[in-house]
Amino acid sequence: MPEPAVGQGVAAIDTPALVIDLDAMERNLRRMADFAAARGVRLRPHAKMHKCAELARLQMAHGAVGVCVQKIGEALALARGGVTDIYISNQVVDPGKLLRLADAVAQQRGVRWAIAVDSADGVARLASAMAKAGVQTTGAIDVFVEIDAGQNRCGVVPGDAAVTLARQVLACPVLRWAGLQAYHGRAQHLRSAEERTAAIDHAAEAVRASCAALAKAGIGVPLVTGAGSGSFLLEAGSGLWGEIQPGSYLFMDADYAANQPLPGAPVFEHALFVKSQVMSRGADRAVVDAGHKSHAIDSGLPRVAHPPGLEFANGGDEHGILRAAQEGPLPGLGETVWLIPGHCDPTVNLHDVMFGVRGGLQHGWVERVLRVDARGAVG
Ligand SMILES: Cc1ncc(COP(=O)(O)O)c(C=O)c1O
Repeated sequence: MPEPAVGQGVAAIDTPALVIDLDAMERNLRRMADFAAARGVRLRPHAKMHKCAELARLQMAHGAVGVCVQKIGEALALARGGVTDIYISNQVVDPGKLLRLADAVAQQRGVRWAIAVDSADGVARLASAMAKAGVQTTGAIDVFVEIDAGQNRCGVVPGDAAVTLARQVLACPVLRWAGLQAYHGRAQHLRSAEERTAAIDHAAEAVRASCAALAKAGIGVPLVTGAGSGSFLLEAGSGLWGEIQPGSYLFMDADYAANQPLPGAPVFEHALFVKSQVMSRGADRAVVDAGHKSHAIDSGLPRVAHPPGLEFANGGDEHGILRAAQEGPLPGLGETVWLIPGHCDPTVNLHDVMFGVRGGLQHGWVERVLRVDARGAVG
């Protein structure tokens, strides 16, 4: 795709393309940073969402202590892009992957590293990779023990199992016992505020049980980390979590916007859009040039942000079919249609670049082109 020069108007962006409304994104950035500062919790946004070193650095310049990622490939891509505090909030047990991480730790390029574990074998493999890479510095990498906070995905059973792993981490000098990872992924998209509150109450019980078992064993918990864009208000207010990990708040997708807001939670604006254009017209429909290869549909089809009054129907890999919601006008051939993706994370992963637009989607200009540095870094 020909890239528009920085400074050119929005019209110069070829379609389909991923566009960030920078004004909206920066308001989201500040709202979350202000929230964390006011509540006295550390903010470590999840960079799996944008996979972009420039945005991770921007978040750190606005109060974030560092970022999370899920994969070693993401971690290394962001480190190459100058991000200096990276937590892999996920389990990695493959020796080859762990060695790539250990090599990066050994190179000590001014990056603070952290990782989650949920098995004795996982801790042993991490320690052995560090030894193989020649890492000798005490506490070279922070290690969080993940507890199952209610999603029944990763994480040990809350309580004594966390003690066993914490002891193992404490016995290995190159690993620094950093505390607990407690993230309830399924809770994020429960629609009602009541359901989300109940889910995080459950997660809080899991944290309490684990902290109590650790205290009984004489082990302090330096930090509990977790939380996403659907629940962070609850974890921050619990008195248990000291760090929150929301990711999607920065771009705000259609799926998150469908959540009933938690009372008192900051409100985030849509900042990520797919710019598309009408490529075919029928009497009752307009067809745009953006399909599944432009936006992920795991959390539902995109919503049409502009022009108003249009509904998006699945048109396949390269097409989207628009119909007027109430017999309104349809856009004509070549007209621009702005879409709000259903789920931002897998949508970003479909694109090499995101065009940062200043001054609004209708009349703005391209201020920067942001690379999706960790695009395709799925391992
Ligand atoms: C461990 C962890 N923390 C935080 C998040 C952030 O979630 P969100 O982008 O929904 O805010 C995720 C997302 O899946 C996650 O896996």
